[in-house]
Amino acid sequence: MRAYVLTRYGGPDAMQIRDVPEPQPEPGEVRIKVVAEGLNPVDYKIRQGGLRVITRLRLPAVAGCELAGTVDAVGPGVSGFAVGDPVYARVDKARLGAFAEFVCLQQDLVAPMPVSLGFAEAAGLPLAGLTALQALRDELGVGHGTRLFISGGAGGVGTLAIQLAKYLGAEVTTTASSRGEALVRSLGADRVIDYTKQDFAGFLHGFDAGLDLVGGEALEGIFRILKPGGKVVSIAGAPEPLTARKDLRRPLLAPLFWVISWSLRRRAHRLGVSYRYLFMHPSGEDLRFLARLVDDGKLRPVVDSIYPFDRIGEAFAVLEEGRAKGKIVVTL
Ligand SMILES: NC(=O)c1ccc[n+]([C@@H]2O[C@H](COP(=O)([O-])OP(=O)(O)OC[C@H]3O[C@@H](n4cnc5c(N)ncnc54)[C@H](OP(=O)(O)O)[C@@H]3O)[C@@H](O)[C@H]2O)c1
Repeated sequence: MRAYVLTRYGGPDAMQIRDVPEPQPEPGEVRIKVVAEGLNPVDYKIRQGGLRVITRLRLPAVAGCELAGTVDAVGPGVSGFAVGDPVYARVDKARLGAFAEFVCLQQDLVAPMPVSLGFAEAAGLPLAGLTALQALRDELGVGHGTRLFISGGAGGVGTLAIQLAKYLGAEVTTTASSRGEALVRSLGADRVIDYTKQDFAGFLHGFDAGLDLVGGEALEGIFRILKPGGKVVSIAGAPEPLTARKDLRRPLLAPLFWVISWSLRRRAHRLGVSYRYLFMHPSGEDLRFLARLVDDGKLRPVVDSIYPFDRIGEAFAVLEEGRAKGKIVVTL
C-alpha cells in the first residue's frame, strides 16, 4: 500500500511517499481503509525531531495522526464495529500511521463518523477536536458564564475551541488577524482582538480562564489578563511536571519538564494564576461525544483546503506557513 513515511528526522524531504506492507488487525483491532487524513503541526514537529524525547518512534515509520475511512476488517474480539462502518480516529501516539491506505487501530480509539459529515471534514476533527474538548472541559472546567480568552482562534484547534466553549456556556474573547476575524466571529467569538495591531495584554483584564494555542508572548500575556486564581492551559508553551505524570505517564520526564517550565510557572505563580501544559490523548469515547455535537448542529469543522494524497508534500508546505484557517486535509 502507499504511505507517507518518516524516513529520518529533518526537513520536508525526510517524509516520502513509499510502498509499505499492508497491516493486519491484531486482537481488539479494526483495520480501516482510509479515505481522508488531517494534517497537524505536530506532524512536522515530529519530523523535525523536536519531540524525540516523547515519541520514541522506530524509523522508518508511517506518519500521520488522524483519519476518516471505512472499517475494512476486524480482528478477534472486536464487538463494536463491522466491515463497512464509516469511522474516524486519532491514532495511537506511539505508533502513528494515519498517512496510509490502511491503518489498524485498537477499537477503543475509533468512533463512528458523524453522519452529517463527509470523510474530508471528519478527518480534520479528531486531534484538534479532542484537544479543545479535553482542555476546556477537563482542565479548565469551562461552564456557564466563564470569561474565557483563547489565543489563536482561527487555526485547526481554535476554530473548534471557540465553538465548544460557546456550547459549554462561556463568553469568548479570541485573537485573530484580519484574515481570520470574520471566520472566528461566525463561529461564535464574542470579541476578537487583531493580534497584528494590538497587544491584548495591554487592555484586557478580569478573565477566569485562558486557553493558549500560540505560546511565547501570547501565553505570557494571558497570565496578565486573568483574575487571581485563574487557570491557564497551553498546548503550545512548555510542558510542566503534570504533563509528564498525567498526560504522558512518563514520571521520569517530570524533572526535565520542571526545569523547562520553571520561568513560566514562576511568572504564573507571581500573578496568582495556575499554569498547565496539556498533551491531548486519543479517545474513542470523546470522539463519540464530538460526533453527537456535530450531528446536533452544535459543532462545525472548518476545512481550510483539501489536497490529493500525491500532493501531500505541498499540503505540508502550506501547513508549515502557519496561516491555515481551520484544517488542511489530504484525500486518498
Ligand atoms: N499539546 C497538544 O496536545 C496539542 C494538540 C494540538 C495542537 N497543538 C499545538 O497547538 C498549536 C496550534 O495548533 P493548530 O492546529 O491550531 O495550528 P494551525 O491550524 O496551524 O494554526 C494556524 C492559525 O494560527 C493563527 N496564528 C498564528 N500566529 C498567531 C498569533 N500570534 N496570534 C493569534 N493567531 C495566530 C494563524 O492566523 P493568521 O494567519 O490570521 O495569522 C492561523 O490561522 C500548534 O503549535 C500545535 O502543535 C498541541
